[in-house]
Amino acid sequence: MCGITGYLGYKQAAPILLEGLKKLEYRGYDSAGIATLENHQINIKKGVGAISKIDAKLQFSKLHGTIGIGHTRWATHGKVNQINAHPHLTQSKNLIIVHNGIIENFEELKNKLNSVNLISDTDSEIALYYFENKLNKGLTIKEAIKEFLKEVKGTLAILFLNTQTNEIYAIKRDSPLALGIGTNEIFLGSDIYAFSKFTHKAIFFEDNEFAIISNKGFRFYNQNGLEIIKKITKFNWVKEEKKNKNFEHYMLKEIYEEPKCIERLSISLNSDQKNKIQNLKNLILNSKKILFVAAGTSYHASLYATYLLTRLGFDARAIIASEFSNIGLVDKETLIIAVSQSGETMDVLDAIKPVKNSCYSLVSIVNVPHSSIERLCFLNINILAGQEIAVASTKTYSNELYLFLKLSQELGMKINLEKIFDNVKELIENNSSQIKKVAQLLKNKKDIYIIGKGSGYAVAREISLKLKEVSYIHAEGMMSGELKHGTLALIENKTPVIILISEKHDPILSNLKEVESRNAQAILISPYYGDFKIPEGKETFALYASILGFLLTYEIAKLKNLPIDKPRNLAKVVTVK
Ligand code: M6R
Repeated sequence: MCGITGYLGYKQAAPILLEGLKKLEYRGYDSAGIATLENHQINIKKGVGAISKIDAKLQFSKLHGTIGIGHTRWATHGKVNQINAHPHLTQSKNLIIVHNGIIENFEELKNKLNSVNLISDTDSEIALYYFENKLNKGLTIKEAIKEFLKEVKGTLAILFLNTQTNEIYAIKRDSPLALGIGTNEIFLGSDIYAFSKFTHKAIFFEDNEFAIISNKGFRFYNQNGLEIIKKITKFNWVKEEKKNKNFEHYMLKEIYEEPKCIERLSISLNSDQKNKIQNLKNLILNSKKILFVAAGTSYHASLYATYLLTRLGFDARAIIASEFSNIGLVDKETLIIAVSQSGETMDVLDAIKPVKNSCYSLVSIVNVPHSSIERLCFLNINILAGQEIAVASTKTYSNELYLFLKLSQELGMKINLEKIFDNVKELIENNSSQIKKVAQLLKNKKDIYIIGKGSGYAVAREISLKLKEVSYIHAEGMMSGELKHGTLALIENKTPVIILISEKHDPILSNLKEVESRNAQAILISPYYGDFKIPEGKETFALYASILGFLLTYEIAKLKNLPIDKPRNLAKVVTVK
């Protein structure tokens, strides 16, 4: 994963790069570093841990120079330590690299560079020397990048800083990269957040494109080294307030934002995005089969969508993106809907790129505008949840669910969505003491089972993901009907089983009896049973129940004193295979 930033202009680069890295920290938070240049003098600082911690210790702003590059890391090759942190510099001190991605043929490239003394264990340092080697052979920059792109396999968003010419070379394949245009200054970033404080004009790199940036400006080239003219996009971003003292963590702040985010989406679906939802409706009506492609939480939202569409009589399936090539059968009449908060998940991109031209249509549902998935699709619906900082997806998941409810309503399902914002607000406010009580019961458990039926299945999967990701508890979310086919063997005295009951006479009640007979600790999430207060409504139950699940996992993680917003080993955007 990782996030990269670059700056070339007339201001001090380090504070701008630091600001960008803080915005990109959701992409990785193992270690970080910045390199700047001042009259060919190279300044580099890097360290392990969160950016603010490293900055407090190293003081990035003391790095002088008006040109520089920065990096925040999620380790793929090599341990998390200071040596493996980026930027990396060659021994000649002529070239510095920051890289997001994976160089797949790094062993092969390393063998070709026989006399080089590598300092780190990273694949990126090998790429750095490989590129320098090209320049040492006397190739022009364009020729060197052209060959580099031909020979290097894998995913890359790379910034090379040439310390002799004061140029930055920006190269992109599969990992995202954008260039921001200011007045006499140029910004680079893994996404537009990195520089949205400084400019709202951006150019998005497409695969195998590169740019050469100097104090004369920038030029873009394709993989054959031919200059290309790129479109400048003016972007607007829904700004969210900073985390304030009412919220200790972004996860909680983002759950509390849900009523506002759902309302914002609702307004947009009735105004500026009205045509889009109509177009999607028509695509669904005219296609033979609908395949959702997504990962993690977005996959669970897609499972819910398939539940709704199936009830409406459509042939809809959700497929985990990383398995799409194995189990997703696409023909000309298939509609593919890619669902992704970030719009950058590599598994989703890998799934849709090869089938782009062989399906009926390709639609994206994303939160981050202008993201790679959005740019690949013909129709895009934005879920407008605003930037989500916590690694755990909460408000974006709820907005995805709301979008599917709205779509189903448009397709003829009878759902009352009028009071939904108020209901969500009350749900959050009215259940806090019960959530705290249940969190106490669950905080020391090793395993938790969550069972659901119909739309409850998607919720069960989602709550189990959050329990693992945020509360570090092994959890299994499953279809209640499957319990008796094996898992029941694991239910013993006080085993916690969360049961999602959407209806008064829900058939899941017999599964409740089964676990109660084995003395399980049954926790009921339902408008009709148990102690949580949930508004009635079969179709909207999934939305309410998952929000309770989010709050519960948050409280458990808090009791366990866990790093809620940045769980270990994870990153917000998963741009590796
Ligand atoms: O950005 P995406 O929605 O494509 O991300 C997919 C998953 O990586 C993501 O939902 C992940 O499972 C969340 N961190 C879960 O809270």
